Amino acid sequence: MDQKKAEELIRRLAAALRGTELYSPSHPLVQRGIDAFTSAATERLQSSPSVVIGFIGDEVVVDGARLPRGTASLIGFARDLRDRGIEKVTLSRGLSRAEVGGLIAVFGDRTSRTPLPDRLAAKGVRNVTLGRIVVDEVSDEQAGIAAARRVYSAAVETAESLWNAAKAGDQPDPAAARKIIDGLARLVTQDRTSLMALTALKKYDNYTFTHMVNVSALAMAQARALNIEGPLLREFGFAALMHDIGKVQTPLEVLNKPDKLTNEEFGIMKRHVVEGAHILRRTPEMPALAPIVAFEHHLKQDLSGYPENIGSRKLNLCTMIVSIADVFDALRSNRPYRQGLATARIRSIMGEQGNPAFNQALLKRFVNLMGLFPVG
Ligand SMILES: [Fe+2]
Ligand SMILES: [Fe+2]
Repeated sequence: MDQKKAEELIRRLAAALRGTELYSPSHPLVQRGIDAFTSAATERLQSSPSVVIGFIGDEVVVDGARLPRGTASLIGFARDLRDRGIEKVTLSRGLSRAEVGGLIAVFGDRTSRTPLPDRLAAKGVRNVTLGRIVVDEVSDEQAGIAAARRVYSAAVETAESLWNAAKAGDQPDPAAARKIIDGLARLVTQDRTSLMALTALKKYDNYTFTHMVNVSALAMAQARALNIEGPLLREFGFAALMHDIGKVQTPLEVLNKPDKLTNEEFGIMKRHVVEGAHILRRTPEMPALAPIVAFEHHLKQDLSGYPENIGSRKLNLCTMIVSIADVFDALRSNRPYRQGLATARIRSIMGEQGNPAFNQALLKRFVNLMGLFPVG
């Protein structure tokens, strides 16, 4: 209902009630007030089966829209009804003039001790109901998800600003990153279920940033299950968040290419591991783990990945955890070139016999942790 009409409806209701406080029910002024309100309400009920008028504090709400702070008389009217235990008046289609007369008479009688709804019923008024406003009760579970969602969304926003800073050649703000990590670390410890549910949302419009946050969350969940906590848990989360930061240097046509990369393009893409290590090494306050993980996260257990020909080395535990989180999140997400894969398919890809990409013991633990499939 447009706001003017809503205001007019309420004004007429208030006027009719005022009339009945001052004059006898048969007084022409009272009758005119009833006529005026009936016609406004009937007009409204032609286009909608009901009108809900609510009184919240000093505010009047009509069909969910709050009226602008009204005149003193309107505020007085809202307060008066609320003080009498009426927070909500619902008018239904079929409302007659006689019913409006009944409503006004019932409201006007301040001496009766019978509850207002009972008096309305006694007068045969069926198309007006009075009630209290029930604030939707939110279950603990929903409240948990809502709180987790706020942390998660803030983390995705911050991830974007870290990315943009690195892309502009500035140093990503470690304090902002630490704030994300603190929030996620708390969730990993206190409400892992909600956090894991949020990482499963398959969006691809902001994949770059959700991927950063998801890998951080999935890596910290694994680390936590290995009893890693406190500052080290946060370092893992930090390193995971920044694992792909070198991609700020990858040309967008390569980064977002919907088809298979050519050899040359793949060569360009591969550089992100070295460039990431570079960026992170020169960022003050960045944990030492971050450039290591950026450098190692595509190496694989047998070093058959990239960067190539780096001699022998043992991958950091954080790298092994991040690789699992990284591939899992990438396969599960919707990408421009394919839809996110089902968990059964991800399981068979990641768990392939002898897949050198992952540490098998950690992979089994991950699968267990996520409840993806029975561990063989
Ligand atoms: Fe990567
Ligand atoms: Fe990645």
